[in-house]
Amino acid sequence: MTWQPNSWRSFPIQQVPEYPDLDRLNAVEKIISGRPPLVFAGEAQSLRDRLGSVARGEAFLLQGGDCAESFAEFSANNIRDSFKVMLQMAVVLTYGASMPVIKIGRMAGQFAKPRSAPTEVIDGVELPSYRGDMINGPAFTEDERIPDPRRLLRVYEQSASTLNLLRAFAQGGLADLTKVHSWVADFLKDTPQTQRFEALAERIEESLNFMKACGVTSATARPLAETELYTSHEALLLGFEEAMTRRDTITDEQGWYDTSAHMLWIGDRTRQPDGAHVEYMRGISNPIGLKCGPSLDPDELLRLIDILNPSNQAGRLTLIVRMGAEKVRSGLPPLLRAVKAHGANVVWCCDPMHGNTIKASSGYKTRRVDDVMAEVTGFFDAHDEIGTYPGGVHFEMTGQNVTECVGGVVDVTEANLGDRYHTHCDPRLNGAQALELAFLLADLLKRRRDVPSYMSKAV
Ligand code: PEP
Ligand code: CO
Repeated sequence: MTWQPNSWRSFPIQQVPEYPDLDRLNAVEKIISGRPPLVFAGEAQSLRDRLGSVARGEAFLLQGGDCAESFAEFSANNIRDSFKVMLQMAVVLTYGASMPVIKIGRMAGQFAKPRSAPTEVIDGVELPSYRGDMINGPAFTEDERIPDPRRLLRVYEQSASTLNLLRAFAQGGLADLTKVHSWVADFLKDTPQTQRFEALAERIEESLNFMKACGVTSATARPLAETELYTSHEALLLGFEEAMTRRDTITDEQGWYDTSAHMLWIGDRTRQPDGAHVEYMRGISNPIGLKCGPSLDPDELLRLIDILNPSNQAGRLTLIVRMGAEKVRSGLPPLLRAVKAHGANVVWCCDPMHGNTIKASSGYKTRRVDDVMAEVTGFFDAHDEIGTYPGGVHFEMTGQNVTECVGGVVDVTEANLGDRYHTHCDPRLNGAQALELAFLLADLLKRRRDVPSYMSKAV
């Protein structure tokens, strides 16, 4: 069937907000379709190439950021601090695993949320669920919860200025490796992770001094001075994504690109092979992700792979597995076996967040850092068992000192959750917890490198 940016409109669709005024929605989508693209097709192609190297086991993917960006928490400091945590994690992995790390933010467009129920009841009052700032507001009032199309324009603007700042940070000096000490946030100064990080930063500094003596500095070698950070979000609100879809007229490919982000992914609730989201995503040429939850069976996954990546291009499709710590060891190997036997080129990525959400007795939605770590370890073990490559992680974090996930070396307890619980949606790792995850990953990647039996089975 021929694909068009709007062909998804005749397919069954999940998770659609009920806009009271569809004419107004159409008018806003029309305005957005006339706005400049946020990213350029050539950049999305570069990311696809980078992810191709991940699929071949030559690099590692770090994809992280907010569960949901919000209008209220939009500030330069928040963007800077998340960026710094990504840089710290990447350096821990690059150094620890001697591998290039591809960084993708859940940033500059991650504003729409799938919900498990369309409405929410509090004290007997029923209102539409909050679906992310792109659609309605988080406050529990009738007014706020009505979907408002004007929010799409605000998302476009906030994404554009976030991306502008990220590009400046990546290329304007903040990511220079000689500044590695300045990436540590003040509130992190006394944590064990930071001490470990500082020790690593000193070794990096020594290497840089040696290279400087040899004539290689960040002024002469751009990779030392700059970095690449790509953007991504869940392609949930398809009217917006359609409005941002443009034909590539500059590169030779001439394909259609969703120019709202470099990478888009399909959520676990909208991955029906005959549904609208899969229809839209199959036609864009960006690198894409597919969330794989515990209910996905191997045959359905193969069907989705054939629809989404018919030319079996390495780097086009990333499978983001989110089973939960308890299920990953039994649920993942059948998927790995099936995909391997199918000969499909994919990136396997572990999301250790979305299968591990629990409710604390105080009522807060939280995640245990121990469960996050256990799922990551289970993910690596499953790949070792089958002989496939654990290519990356996908996580929710913030650079701020929040208390949303429990546990970790700087122990956040259930009693502390209320201290700095700021998320608009799911609980995120704070800077210290994210760094802890990076050190675990570096150890797991080193284990693969150091134990020949792991390598001999790897793809
Ligand atoms: C998410 O990544 O924010 C999300 C909702 O994930 P999933 O679709 O895997 O539940
Ligand atoms: Co989330």
